Amino acid sequence: MFSAQGPTFGELCVQALSSVERGYDLLAPKFDHTPFRTPRGILDATAEALAGLGPFTDGLDVCCGTGAGMHTLRPVCDGRITGVDFSAGMLARAQDAHPDATWVRADARALPFVEGFDLAVSFGAFGHFLPRERPAVLAGIHRALRPGGLFALAVGAPAPLTSPAYWVEVGFDLVMRVRNAVWRPPFVMYYRTTPLRALRDDLAAAGFEVRVEPLSTLGAGRDGTPRCGLVLARKAGAR
Ligand SMILES: C[S@@+](CC[C@H](N)C(=O)[O-])C[C@H]1O[C@@H](n2cnc3c(N)ncnc32)[C@H](O)[C@@H]1O
Repeated sequence: MFSAQGPTFGELCVQALSSVERGYDLLAPKFDHTPFRTPRGILDATAEALAGLGPFTDGLDVCCGTGAGMHTLRPVCDGRITGVDFSAGMLARAQDAHPDATWVRADARALPFVEGFDLAVSFGAFGHFLPRERPAVLAGIHRALRPGGLFALAVGAPAPLTSPAYWVEVGFDLVMRVRNAVWRPPFVMYYRTTPLRALRDDLAAAGFEVRVEPLSTLGAGRDGTPRCGLVLARKAGAR
């Protein structure tokens, strides 16, 4: 949740009326005090799951924000770790927090890397891509990986229809659709536009072999199914 050091309601409104890039530039100084930063538990559970799938040399965090994903990449990569994001404000914070990593400013829909990494991760950002934009993002990640490289994406279980979370997500997406219909520039952020089946289909179309593993350490919902899973997408070829 938001802490006292987090953004005020007014600041959040100004950010939400900006473009995604500008909105994050404005939010950057307070981003680490918001619930939008991926919690450490998810980062650590992902690192734990990846530890058995390495070794990895060079790692990339796509839409790195202020650098949360470095906590996942650092323990599993023994080479260079890199974050890419299009918000200069977020990258400046990331650079301050992790000066040993490499930071690249680029749009994830046109990633500038070619076979430079063995592992790519991304946290909390796919809601910023429209379904029609996802293929370009995934093609860029596929291109960025060396043969045999792995892309890992932590995903939450869909909220059940009867839960308050489901209706909060539906309500949020509805507000954003209205906002984007009447206001320019758009701020693309939707909770319910990246269902697992569509993501799997797009990953397969990009050339990945895909499987999903439960992140069991993050617990289970009332029905016993895991709260979070890890999508593991492997690029063909020998490592
Ligand atoms: C919710 S934040 C998540 C940041 C970080 N991954 C984390 O988990 O704390 C989403 C990030 O995605 C970045 N982003 C959104 N769309 C992007 C795009 N098209 N290209 C590059 N970065 C993008 C934003 O600038 C922001 O830093």
